[in-house]
Amino acid sequence: MRSVFLFAALTGAEIVHHAPVDNEFSSLEQVFNASRGTNGGVYNSSDVPDEEYGIYNFCNMPHVRKDHYPQVDTSKYKLQFVEVSHRHHKRTPYATNCYPKEALVLYCDDALNNYYSEFRTQRESNDTLKISWANYQNPNNPFNYIDNGYNGTCQFPQISYAGLEDSYQHGLDIYGVYGKLLDFLPETYNSEHVNFRVTNNVITSQVASALIKALYPEETGIDVKIEVDGFDALEPSYSCDFADDLYSEIRSTPEWEQHLKNASDLYSELDNITGVDPKASGWHVSFDHYFDNTAFRLCHGYDLACNADNSSLCMTEDQAEQIFRLGDYEYNYTWRINENSTLYAATDYGAYFNELKHRLVDKTTGASALKYSHNVIHDGSISGMLGFLQINYLRWPGMGSEVVFELYEGLKDSKWYVRTLYGGQVLETTGPLGTIDMIPLEKLVDYIESMIGENAETLVDYCTS
Ligand SMILES: *[C@@H]1O[C@H](CO)[C@@H](O)[C@H](O)[C@H]1NC(C)=O
Ligand SMILES: *[C@@H]1O[C@H](CO)[C@@H](O)[C@H](O)[C@H]1NC(C)=O
Ligand SMILES: *[C@@H]1O[C@H](CO)[C@@H](O)[C@H](O)[C@H]1NC(C)=O
Ligand SMILES: *[C@@H]1O[C@H](CO)[C@@H](O)[C@H](O)[C@H]1NC(C)=O
Ligand SMILES: *[C@@H]1O[C@H](CO)[C@@H](O)[C@H](O)[C@H]1NC(C)=O
Ligand SMILES: *[C@@H]1O[C@H](CO)[C@@H](O)[C@H](O)[C@H]1NC(C)=O
Ligand SMILES: *[C@@H]1O[C@H](CO)[C@@H](O)[C@H](O)[C@H]1NC(C)=O
Ligand SMILES: *[C@@H]1O[C@H](CO)[C@@H](O)[C@H](O)[C@H]1NC(C)=O
Ligand SMILES: *[C@@H]1O[C@H](CO)[C@@H](O)[C@H](O)[C@H]1NC(C)=O
Repeated sequence: MRSVFLFAALTGAEIVHHAPVDNEFSSLEQVFNASRGTNGGVYNSSDVPDEEYGIYNFCNMPHVRKDHYPQVDTSKYKLQFVEVSHRHHKRTPYATNCYPKEALVLYCDDALNNYYSEFRTQRESNDTLKISWANYQNPNNPFNYIDNGYNGTCQFPQISYAGLEDSYQHGLDIYGVYGKLLDFLPETYNSEHVNFRVTNNVITSQVASALIKALYPEETGIDVKIEVDGFDALEPSYSCDFADDLYSEIRSTPEWEQHLKNASDLYSELDNITGVDPKASGWHVSFDHYFDNTAFRLCHGYDLACNADNSSLCMTEDQAEQIFRLGDYEYNYTWRINENSTLYAATDYGAYFNELKHRLVDKTTGASALKYSHNVIHDGSISGMLGFLQINYLRWPGMGSEVVFELYEGLKDSKWYVRTLYGGQVLETTGPLGTIDMIPLEKLVDYIESMIGENAETLVDYCTS
């Protein structure tokens, strides 16, 4: 392993880990304490009653909403720029997270996904047409059912009908705050002032289609930004061996191995129910796969998994809750608890912070007219952001989980201030930024530069060495 602080010493950047807030929640003992249930979280519905809005809901995480939005004193500060980033909404599981044989028959014909090209230069006629994906179950493909996991017509993954509904509602709620309440969003869409961006994973475009319609109902089609696959800072998909090595290292420490060992009985029980081969790649190195499959079922109102050949051999509520507590622990450990997690976040997600810094600074100098920037991303991206900022307390960022950066101009002092919201509320960190509530922009810029260098040169050094 290369010397972790070598490049930092060369460039003057210094990445310092600040431990997350300590509470009795996540000692391994509490992770395995069945009386903890879901630690107060919701995993079985997109809806929570209005009076409880804001609680952790893996199926549909809290986001900015008019009734819960923390108002800023508009006699002192003028909102000038907003960047919203959020995880896509609920979906079918990834193919890797499907059991070898699933008893559930799953159809996705209630939503249509389109994928097609158009000529953009003038031509006599429009010589292309809209192409929609009709998911097709081929009766003569001997691998159809086996490879899919589920019998039916879904893609793994695709945003479900209910996930599209959540995406639309998410757009309405954002409009409720930045449109109606603050009268900040431009009335009509124009790409000089408003940008949407997706990753190379099609599910982020599926979400964008519903979400943007809620913000700009009169639009019938707009361009969303997308970076080239392989460099995408949002997903992220740029290559950084240093970060990849660190990730493997974090996920093979004695603490990591310990939680897997303690879960070995649970693993046998689950494998027995689901038919997963204990040696199958990916299933016993973390709870990611079991988590994703189980959360998918509950979030969509399906029963917990039963054995495909024995419908009375089913996963129990207790087992599901144990999987969820383990998932939270794994995210917390990877992105916050392990002392190398900050270095990992800085190298894995640093490129995004470099561009965010430029967007914010360009706004203050007048170099950019952009008012609203919106990214649809993934749980790994949200964790990267929160790990980079050193959130006080991390659970697995569920469906739709949202980070907002708001840039304000002080009306009296003409200085620039930043506020960061997570789940619709001000973000608290244990790092030097503390509670990110109207902190001077320079403080955020200094912090970003302390992590990745003045123009990401530290990041590049790490990733190309
Ligand atoms: C994250 O880890 C810290 C430190 O171990 C712990 O105090 C906190 O409860 C954990 N949070 C969750 C959600 O598990
Ligand atoms: C985990 O396993 C170790 C070793 O068997 C044991 O000492 C410890 O009590 C277990 N912890 C929990 C929380 O189950
Ligand atoms: C397990 O969790 C319950 C509920 O939070 C708590 O009352 C109990 O003290 C915990 N058990 C241990 C051994 O910490
Ligand atoms: C979700 O789970 C909670 C607690 O386990 C339960 O009280 C509630 O009825 C469930 N809701 C749905 C929609 O299944
Ligand atoms: C091609 O499609 C565009 C957009 O729908 C439309 O404005 C234009 O009139 C069409 N051109 C022809 C030649 O049909
Ligand atoms: C898939 O489900 C359909 C509808 O329930 C059923 O007719 C078909 O036999 C199933 N196919 C397999 C391979 O189980
Ligand atoms: C697997 O399930 C079968 C049938 O219910 C049961 O007899 C066996 O004990 C189980 N094995 C384990 C390891 O749980
Ligand atoms: C099916 O599972 C139940 C519950 O574990 C078990 O009692 C029963 O023996 C199993 N049936 C067969 C045929 O394995
Ligand atoms: C952090 O990484 C360094 C360098 O690879 C390693 O020596 C150290 O053990 C790691 N620390 C933890 C807590 O994993």
